[in-house]
Amino acid sequence: MTNYLPLAKTLRPKLIAWRRDFHQHPELGFQEYRTADIVARHLNTLGMEVSTGVGKTGVVGIIEGSAPGPVVLLRFDMDALPITEATGLPFASEYDGRMHACGHDGHTAIGMGVAELLALTRQSWRGTVKLLFQPAEEGLGGAKATIQDGVLENPTPSAAFALHLWNQFPLGKLVVQPGPLMAAADHFSITIMGHGGHGAVPEDTVDALLVGAQAVSALHHIISRNISPHDTAVLSIGRFHAGGAFNVIAEQAYLEGTLRTFAPSVRDRLIQRMAETLEGVAAAYGARAFLEIKDHEFTPAVINDETMAAIAYQAATRVIPEKHIERIRPIMVSEDMAEILNRVPGCYILLGAEPEGGAKGPHHNPRFDIHEDALPLAAAIMATIATEYLQKEGTEPPPSTSL
Ligand code: NI
Repeated sequence: MTNYLPLAKTLRPKLIAWRRDFHQHPELGFQEYRTADIVARHLNTLGMEVSTGVGKTGVVGIIEGSAPGPVVLLRFDMDALPITEATGLPFASEYDGRMHACGHDGHTAIGMGVAELLALTRQSWRGTVKLLFQPAEEGLGGAKATIQDGVLENPTPSAAFALHLWNQFPLGKLVVQPGPLMAAADHFSITIMGHGGHGAVPEDTVDALLVGAQAVSALHHIISRNISPHDTAVLSIGRFHAGGAFNVIAEQAYLEGTLRTFAPSVRDRLIQRMAETLEGVAAAYGARAFLEIKDHEFTPAVINDETMAAIAYQAATRVIPEKHIERIRPIMVSEDMAEILNRVPGCYILLGAEPEGGAKGPHHNPRFDIHEDALPLAAAIMATIATEYLQKEGTEPPPSTSL
């Protein structure tokens, strides 16, 4: 097996240059035209089979090793966030309201580095690697769009892996674990219909604002009273709009929020109790409430496959000292790699990338930054995982059919 770390370190200047260029020219979800173009040109120079426009702005590169074998998918996301950068870095975003504040600039550079590592060593590994440079991870459904465009077909991967740089963990700490890692996310809205009127004549009105306030309070009891303490769930309301003037009782209230869960049964229970609670609260005041769960925006939980996590772990130990590989409590943020992991067994891992002197802002913060030494490390880890999987898969005896 190739030792990818020294090779990846020789790519360090390139990885940093790519990352800084993407950082300076961030593009929002489904608008990653410039980024995709740079990726596609690089993959072409490596002699890969390249498809562009996958899921609108995604790029797929296919590379084959020295002998036929299984197919593995590696996924890297490319999109930036609608945030105005405040890092003061010399390569800060050139655009107001657009920033790589989650490290996807790094992921894109890492993917290009992995492509190069695999191309340089193709005589030493077998099978096929499919590199997906995915658009629009940040809540816009990029993974789904690439799946609808056939990224999991022709050829169909039998395993999928992805990595996220994490600037809240020290450089080089790696999280590889089986089972749940990130939560499922729902976006919901609530419309409350009352009966507006004069602020001085409340007896002729149904105050939608007051019903909304009661609804917020009542909804927050669902987690504590209807969900087992052994389960995990979050209900957060982030928007509440009602009323237009100081002396007018609001006719309507509009609320929006998010749910985070792991088990589908917990999600179902939460949604059912929300509907019942809203109906009851509204009825008590003579109003009507409408709950909308935006199913098309639903992101499932990231659940790592046990076998794939074990393969990723073993591969990672060839790059990172075992004592730096840790397990964490599952986190409540979501990640649309879950769409791929719902269809293909795989593993999502996190690599610590805390900048020197500590992070000045977490992910999605205007002062977010990463440690660039994480780039060659990540490229080596992903190349090792891919080739190790391809080596293992199919060489082990098939599972016994007799009991
Ligand atoms: Ni991210």
